[in-house]
Amino acid sequence: MNLLAPSRVDPAFRADVLAGFRMARRAIPARWFYDRAGSELFERITRLPDYYPTRVETALLERIAPEVAAMVGPGRAVVEFGSGSSIKTPHLLEAIAPAAYVPIDISGEFLRESAAALASDFPKLSILPVEADFMQPIAPPAEIASLPKLGFFPGSTIGNMVARTAVNLLRAMVETLGVGSMLLIGMDRIKDVDVLIRAYDDAEGVTAAFNLNLLHRINRELDADIPVDAFRHRAIWNDRFARIEMRLEAVRDSSFTIEGEHFFMAAGETIHTENSHKYGPRDARLLLRAGAWTPIAEWTDEKDRFALILAEAQPPGTAP
Ligand code: AVJ
Repeated sequence: MNLLAPSRVDPAFRADVLAGFRMARRAIPARWFYDRAGSELFERITRLPDYYPTRVETALLERIAPEVAAMVGPGRAVVEFGSGSSIKTPHLLEAIAPAAYVPIDISGEFLRESAAALASDFPKLSILPVEADFMQPIAPPAEIASLPKLGFFPGSTIGNMVARTAVNLLRAMVETLGVGSMLLIGMDRIKDVDVLIRAYDDAEGVTAAFNLNLLHRINRELDADIPVDAFRHRAIWNDRFARIEMRLEAVRDSSFTIEGEHFFMAAGETIHTENSHKYGPRDARLLLRAGAWTPIAEWTDEKDRFALILAEAQPPGTAP
């Protein structure tokens, strides 16, 4: 049921959904979770007792912010990739006294709301929101051209990407931020499988609703009639790839139409909707180095659940 005028349909969403359903191993990129409803469900996930990453990373950042400040120095432009509602950002901004803050997010609505909220807490800080897909190279605002930069990429968002994509993004960040820039990045650690599964299949069913919202979104925004009640949420640990995979599994045979195209899924077949890679200490550092960033410091919580790593852009001309 398409209530939007055809021109309002995001052509990239339509293309990704159709391509994803045509593949033998059905898959839809995780970025499409975040419509308004999906962003709100994700906010609820971050407050769940079972979902440790946000809580642990926020407390860790609060604790280490003075150390980060000492290493980074004042007067930088902080560029946050995928800022969302920027819950962790105030801890960082308070500690490091930056000259400017540039939140980048694909969801303009969320971006403007959280930029406005931050502006009232930091009235003297220059806040320059950029509505963009940070997976593509971005030209930073002219106002920060001459400032030294600190990239901020918390939340283990890098975990959504397979290694090749993660490395491409890290290299694009070097291009965006420039020589002499630094990066503070959050990465979730490999840990007890039960703890991991619980975080992605919580007792309250919020993650299930978050995953299933993708099908609702397809029905809302595209001309589609997927029977959402024929699917259930699944979270599994893929040990070979050290990642949690979220899938939507058909619980019965179902036929449906998307944009005039017919699809069939047999009971038990799945749509792969998200990867969330986890990194051991050396894995994390190797990934950064492959992405042209040199780790210079790292911190974890007392149970080693989550890591924040500070890195500096590898200068050009570094020995191969
Ligand atoms: C926003 C990508 C970090 O992988 O933990 C949370 C998204 N998916 N629960 C994650 C998510 C299911 C989250 N990231």
